[in-house]
This record gives sequence, structure tokens and C-alpha cells, in this order.
Amino acid sequence: MANVYEAMDVPQLDAAITELKEQAARYREAHLSLDMARGKPTHEQTELSRPMLDLLNSRTELSGDGWAADNYGCPVGLPQARRLAAEIIGVDPTNVIVCGSSSLHLMHDLVCHGFTCGVAGHEPWYKQGQVKWLCPSPGYDRHFRVTAHYGIKNIPIAMQSDGPDMDEVARLVETDPSVKGIWCVPKYANPSGITYSDDVVRRFASLRPAAPDFRIYWDNAYVVHDIYDEGDQLLEIFSAMREAGTDDLVYEFASTSKITFPGSGMSWVAGSPSDIAEARAAFGVEQVCPEKMTELAHVLFLKNLDGVRAHMKKHAAIVRPHFELVEKKLEEGLGGLGIAHWSHPHGGYFISFDGPAGSARRIVSLMAELGVKLTPAGATWPYGEDPHDTNIRIAPTYPTLEDLGKALDVFVVAVKLVAAMLARKTRS
Ligand SMILES: Cc1ncc(COP(=O)(O)O)c(C=O)c1O
Repeated sequence: MANVYEAMDVPQLDAAITELKEQAARYREAHLSLDMARGKPTHEQTELSRPMLDLLNSRTELSGDGWAADNYGCPVGLPQARRLAAEIIGVDPTNVIVCGSSSLHLMHDLVCHGFTCGVAGHEPWYKQGQVKWLCPSPGYDRHFRVTAHYGIKNIPIAMQSDGPDMDEVARLVETDPSVKGIWCVPKYANPSGITYSDDVVRRFASLRPAAPDFRIYWDNAYVVHDIYDEGDQLLEIFSAMREAGTDDLVYEFASTSKITFPGSGMSWVAGSPSDIAEARAAFGVEQVCPEKMTELAHVLFLKNLDGVRAHMKKHAAIVRPHFELVEKKLEEGLGGLGIAHWSHPHGGYFISFDGPAGSARRIVSLMAELGVKLTPAGATWPYGEDPHDTNIRIAPTYPTLEDLGKALDVFVVAVKLVAAMLARKTRS
């Protein structure tokens, strides 16, 4: 679709810019203070989990046959918490470690383990020279920060409508032994919201890495975060690996952060029996056992996958109107102009927006001037370097619907103004 501003003659373009600047000035004068940057639940969503707090009290059973929450023990988590965690992601509980509240922490610890001690008995990465990591982009900035922190070279991989560019992934993973990992958010990816197709999952499951210490970091953060009854279906990767005859290839992560209370829940990692034995030994150096009162509270509250799904439906009822408002405002304001496209996710926490080349930084800074905070442009790419400066992550859940609507009205004007000014630049 042709860019409307590029199709205008110079007088038309100048008139459009004048009008858009006037609209922007009106927003500036309104002294707005809005935030579309935070990918976190609203207060109303966290309130849904408040009843969990009543389930742990002085009368609660804190230990039983083979488990204790009130003492050391269960170094890989309470058995009932491991069963719940395993059921949520569809794997065998014996291959799951439940540990602490943050899955990002577990991802960090496993990268740190590879870097300092080595994976599966191989040399630590710090001794292997420059090691590399694949980063499907746009992606989650905190993933990229973990690997960058250890001096690992982050390599962007193009994201397509059904997942990362698997030809490129296979080419790099299967030929370059310095590639040690890849970050993946396979369902409702942060920020694109897409879910990997069965074909993409099968291709991941059948990778034959050049490096024996390569692992896929499968961050299934949004595994149960559907906003419609018919959610996206993600093929379960460990069963795909069994079909492909591969093993020791994937660490899968998830947490209850966006199910109950972010930062105060339970997180877990699943892997092959030998990877999990190794992780268990590594984590055993850090602590005697994980915090288990929170695990117990979650098991009592959520019970099983049906309980989780029922709870997530309540989240969906709150979140869905936010996503639908973004779609409506963007379609009404920018649809058909040929200057932008955006994702239409069925779940998760984000919408990925792309404007014209060279626009994202300008839009984000204009938005800040007009009183609306967005995720910094470039954040969704390794080292903050979006090669075409197009991508902006929209986080619609946290603001109230009223604030979100206002923020999107400003956004539409900012995108149009920046697009028109970019078109004008090519004429002068
Ligand atoms: C893809 C992804 N993984 C992990 C996290 C953080 O999870 P946790 O709170 O379990 O560390 C987030 C938070 O936004 C996320 O988007």
C-alpha cells in the first residue's frame, strides 16, 4: 500500500504537516502524563489473586508425605508445585525444577552456568573465545541484556509471521560451534504476539547443533495467556524432540508472574533428564532449597491446569478490551494510510508496531514531549539497534482504558506527523 504522504505534492504535504502540528500542539498544552511502556497487569488483574493470600495461615498444613514447606528439603520444589508447573507447560514433572519467583533469574543463572562452568561437561564459554547467541528480533530486551552482560555476541534473527527465520537459525546453529543459544518466546512472543507454527517448532526440535553445549532457551512466559476462548495452539517442544530423536536441546521456562502476582510467584525450568540433573546440581550450590511457602499458596489457589485456565479467563476479560481498543484506534487512525503496520495478537502482553523507516526514535521522543511514555525505540533489538528504526512496542494492559484511548489518540497524531515530515524531507 502506497504511503499517502509520499503520494502528496509539496503544498498538500505542507498543509498536512501544519494541521498535524496544530493537533500535536493541542496535546502538548493538555499536559498529559500517560504511560504505554509497562508490560504489566493492571491493579484489577492482580486483585484477582488476592484470595490466594487467605490460603496460607496458621492453620494451613505445611508439610506432608514427602514434602515440607516449613523447613529445608525439596530442593527442586514441592512435588505438588512441580506437578502444577509441568501441567501448565505440558511436560513430565520429573524433568521440572520449581525455583524462586523469577523465570528471568533462572535464565540468567543457566547462562551464567554455561559461561563460568560449562554445559554438559564442555569447556566454560569464557574459555572458548567469542561465543554467540541468536536473538529473534524484535524480541524481549531483558533476554538480550542477560547475554550481552556476559559479553556474548547477540545476533539478530528476523522474525516472520510464524516464528524466527528458521533457515537462518539452522544455518548458524548447525555450522557455527560458537553459537551457544537462542532466545525464544514461542507463544504470544514479546513483542510481536505471534505463536510459532508447528513447522517452526518441529524445525527447532530437529536442530543438530554444531556445538554440543548449544541450548534453546524456550521462554514460554505466555503459555496460558490467551485473550480469546480459542487461543493459539503451540506444539509442545519436548514431544516434538522425541519425534525428531533429539535430546539435551531445550531449557523451557515459565512462571506465574502474569498469572498471579508479578515478582511474587513461582518460576520453573524444564529440560532433558541430564540437563535437569546438571541444573539441579548448579542451583544446589546457590541455595539449600527454594522458597516454598509461595509454591504452596499457588498450588492451593490454582490447583491444576483447569484452575489456571479458569483464572486466566478472568484476566482475559480485563485485558481483551485493552487489546481491542488498540486495534480499533490504530485501524481508525492509521489504517489504509500505508505508513504503518502492527500485530494482532490473540494473547500475551504486547502489540508490535512498525512505522516508516527512520521513524521509531522520532515517534517515541515526540510522544514523550506530548506527555506519553513508550518503551524506548530500539529496545526490542540487541544492543538497542533497530536496523531500520521502525519498531515500537505497545504495552496496552497497564493504563486504564480511558488513559489508553487518550494515549493512542496522541500516538496516531505522532505517527502521522513523523511520517509526513519524513516524506517532506525527501522533497527538500
Ligand atoms: C518473555 C518474558 N519472559 C520473562 C519475563 C519475566 O518473567 P519473570 O517475572 O518470571 O522473571 C517477561 C516479563 O515481561 C517476559 O515478557
